[in-house]
Amino acid sequence: MTQETEVKIFKNSKKVYNAIAKSIIKLTSDSKQHDFNIALSGGNSPKGLFQKISSKYKDEIPWERIHLWWGDERCVPPSDEQSNYKMTVDYLISHISIPEKNIHRVRGEEDPEQEALRYSKEIEDTLNARGKEPVFDLIILGLGDDGHTASIFPDQLELFDHPENCAVAEHPLTGQKRITLTGHVLNNANRIYFLVTGENKALRVSEIMNDNEAAKLLPAYYISPVNGDLVWFLDEAAASLID
Ligand code: 6PG
Repeated sequence: MTQETEVKIFKNSKKVYNAIAKSIIKLTSDSKQHDFNIALSGGNSPKGLFQKISSKYKDEIPWERIHLWWGDERCVPPSDEQSNYKMTVDYLISHISIPEKNIHRVRGEEDPEQEALRYSKEIEDTLNARGKEPVFDLIILGLGDDGHTASIFPDQLELFDHPENCAVAEHPLTGQKRITLTGHVLNNANRIYFLVTGENKALRVSEIMNDNEAAKLLPAYYISPVNGDLVWFLDEAAASLID
């Protein structure tokens, strides 16, 4: 846990989504630079956030200068129900008018190792990071109930220190290959928002917030922006075991 960490606790998940959506509106309207690069999380948690943005706030975000990336993606075709890209299309992209060129999909249908290298290069080129660390304006992360984040799982903690911008991970239970951003890219973001709701995440949240020994085995514990801000957006259920 870094001292710059902010923890925001809301009564329920809907209020979490609303808070994050309003923060994104403020960030994108305040930002002076032309492009605003956001790396999105996958799984189920972002669905509520995307629905909130699609239904209530889509006209308040300057999509023409927003670039959408993914913090991780399953190595499946974009039409697959497991695809984080498909989930984002269903809940957000199909409801907004964002230039196609601003959507930086991980090509889950390609060879994982090749795609990890390709996505790493796309990040480097688009974020003008040649020779430097790429800087995302915002990375939204989820938390698995095993303490993983993006697709860095506890049994693959070494991926946190992987030298490339992206690496190939493997889901410990299903063996599903995934492409994930690595630790140095994650921690180089201007800001990182954890979006974590539900009682099933409370144990891991408490381990990380209470900074106990068990936390040190959790990839999410090592999310600590070098220069940026870290904000945990939690509902009361996910925060229920924090001391
Ligand atoms: C993924 C995610 C992953 C997710 C957590 C939480 O591709 O699955 O990016 O890191 O954020 O597993 O998933 P839920 O939001 O579904 O609980």
